[in-house]
Amino acid sequence: MNPVKTTVIVFSATGTSRKSAMAIAKGIGCPVEVIDVTALADAVQPKTFGPDELVIFGAPCYGGRIPKIAMPRLAAFKGEGTPCIVTTAYGNRDFDDALVELCDMAKDNGFVPVGAAAMVAQHTFGTIAVGRPTAEDLAEDEAFGRKVLESLKNGIVDKTEVIPGNRPYKDGGNGGKFRPSTMDSCVNCGACRKACPAGAIGEDNQTIDNDKCISCFRCIPVCPMKAKAIQNPAYDEFCVGFNERLAARQESKFFI
Ligand SMILES: Cc1cc2nc3c(=O)[nH]c(=O)nc-3n(C[C@H](O)[C@H](O)[C@H](O)COP(=O)(O)O)c2cc1C
Ligand code: SF4
Ligand code: SF4
Repeated sequence: MNPVKTTVIVFSATGTSRKSAMAIAKGIGCPVEVIDVTALADAVQPKTFGPDELVIFGAPCYGGRIPKIAMPRLAAFKGEGTPCIVTTAYGNRDFDDALVELCDMAKDNGFVPVGAAAMVAQHTFGTIAVGRPTAEDLAEDEAFGRKVLESLKNGIVDKTEVIPGNRPYKDGGNGGKFRPSTMDSCVNCGACRKACPAGAIGEDNQTIDNDKCISCFRCIPVCPMKAKAIQNPAYDEFCVGFNERLAARQESKFFI
């Protein structure tokens, strides 16, 4: 088959899962639509896809799994024997069971996983894999898209068996423990509250609900005033060891 359209369905707090999934879509080469389910403020509109379309699911790896908060949003979409590519962005440690979890969700919802990709991206915490995905990374992702397109010409073949991971999955998918704080430079524009995937920022745009926040750090780059930041010596201390532990370069991995 030759897909008439590609839809990229992503949860991407800091944008890397989205960037990498979009690069694969570019390699596929047909018209692309993006459904971004990251912000809690944007209600997910469930949709069903036909067998002549292609869907690319994208989400980060959190603790070896897909973020718990993202799963129901991604699972709102159904296929009718629709081919899909499952993808995760991971911060240079490991993607563990994130891909099999996405693969199983997609199959349960009527999709056929025809390929998978775990793509290295800058880690949310510390200074690990800074600047990734680079242009070279994205070129690799695009080349993978072309490969999937080639394989689709021979029909829609389920590739579950080549996607690595454990069943049952390891525990994970939770947020981290560090919370941003709000500086005096905040001008109350509300951008951070609107963008927060967890609804963790209060009506005052300043207070953060510790129980809701998942440490995705999306509110930090979103703020035009640089008024959301991590101001915690314990975080700085954590980063020293974390940066060292994850310094060795990892490569993106593609499965087809
Ligand atoms: C709470 C949390 C847990 C994470 N766990 C992992 C992990 O297990 N393995 C890994 O390689 N990266 C991990 N990361 C890093 C993210 O997977 C990585 O930064 C990813 O690029 C973020 O994707 P996004 O830009 O689409 O939000 C974690 C990040 C956060 C915030
Ligand atoms: S408040 Fe927490 S959950 Fe919300 S965007 Fe900021 S880091 Fe993410
Ligand atoms: S985005 Fe920045 S300036 Fe706007 S409300 Fe949030 S912290 Fe304040």
